[in-house]
Amino acid sequence: MKRYSHITGWGMVVPERILTNEEITQTVDTTDEWIRTRTGVQERRIAAEDETTASLASGAALKALTMAGIKPSQVDMIIVSTSSPEHTFPSTASIVQDEIGAIKAGAFDLSAACTGFIYALDMVSHAITSGSIDIALVIGAETLSKIVNWKDRNTCILFGDGAGAFVLQALDKPGGFISSVLRSDGSGADLLTLPAGGSKLPASEQTVRDGLHYIHMQGREVFRFATRVMAKATLETVEKGGLTLDDISLIIPHQANQRIIESAAKKLKLPMDKFFVNLDKYGNTSTASIPIATCEAVEADALQPGDMIVFVGFGGGLTWGSALIQWSGPQLEVKPIRTGWYQFWAGIRSFLLKILRRIEGLLSGLGE
Ligand code: UT7
Repeated sequence: MKRYSHITGWGMVVPERILTNEEITQTVDTTDEWIRTRTGVQERRIAAEDETTASLASGAALKALTMAGIKPSQVDMIIVSTSSPEHTFPSTASIVQDEIGAIKAGAFDLSAACTGFIYALDMVSHAITSGSIDIALVIGAETLSKIVNWKDRNTCILFGDGAGAFVLQALDKPGGFISSVLRSDGSGADLLTLPAGGSKLPASEQTVRDGLHYIHMQGREVFRFATRVMAKATLETVEKGGLTLDDISLIIPHQANQRIIESAAKKLKLPMDKFFVNLDKYGNTSTASIPIATCEAVEADALQPGDMIVFVGFGGGLTWGSALIQWSGPQLEVKPIRTGWYQFWAGIRSFLLKILRRIEGLLSGLGE
């Protein structure tokens, strides 16, 4: 049978705490008017102290699994795309795998900044259509508020926290993932970066004093790059899929800046209502922005089964990319599952495994 990679479940989680533009004006020299007119952002969500990239990712993943009627134990692969991982290693994906009880899944993080979710969709879709896996979770998750310098008005006004997840599944009916375009230009690596904490500049008192553990961005250059690539990448993936722009019902772009999306619309000669935009509520949640926007597009009835849609994004790296998808919608035969139970048992299982490892260590110590 020919295999197709369908999106059969989706879910999002954002922190409860809302940070308005007005509140930001209390801490840096900016105005609500400046932020609204230059970016379109009105408010963003900020993670609580006990909320992390993995906890948001797990919450979004469980919602997506519930919708797809898939048990965590059926998942073959988990990819978490993030720029604010739980740690440099182990991967956030491995922590999510444990938290949700996906006992047979492989798991890894993918680093392609805001474009990461599109890269991950491409990777799992090809693994699904080749027959290497049947069911995957692709998650975009960020707690950027923890790596933003709240004294830097060039960056702190833009970003927000949140997670979105898709379940991708092998089905024999045509549809789902059709084509993609993935690109990188590392000559622009320094335009958007978190300079310290890696092998080039290990964390030290000096790097902390210099604020090099925060996001650094040359906004104007990133803006120019984004307006150059968004329309081009959209057209490329549509043509690669054998379609024209007339066939596309909706474009779900990376939610970075209203003006960047307007510029892409103008270049493509499309009206703005072909683009789904929700960055006013969440700011730029980096790689989480496309799955979060997709969840809200479904809620808003902007997406119907059979629709041809394009995801398009850009970000640090520099990276950019796009994907053409025929939207599958919920599968009728799905029986709801109670993921709360799975999370409960996953917690107990993880606890018991840790104790077993400790006992094993003690016993082998005695035997030596
Ligand atoms: O996911 C990818 C992540 N990155 C992006 O998508 C960022 C893309 N870039 C942008 O969205 C825009 O470049 C920004 C929103 C970051 C900045 O907007 P801009 O229109 O490109 O402003 P600018 O950087 O050219 O700065 C214009 C002026 C400067 O003042 P001077 O030098 O003209 O006196 C800035 O210092 O605006 C000033 N400025 C601000 N003023 C008030 C910069 N940030 C602020 C601020 N409030 N928050």
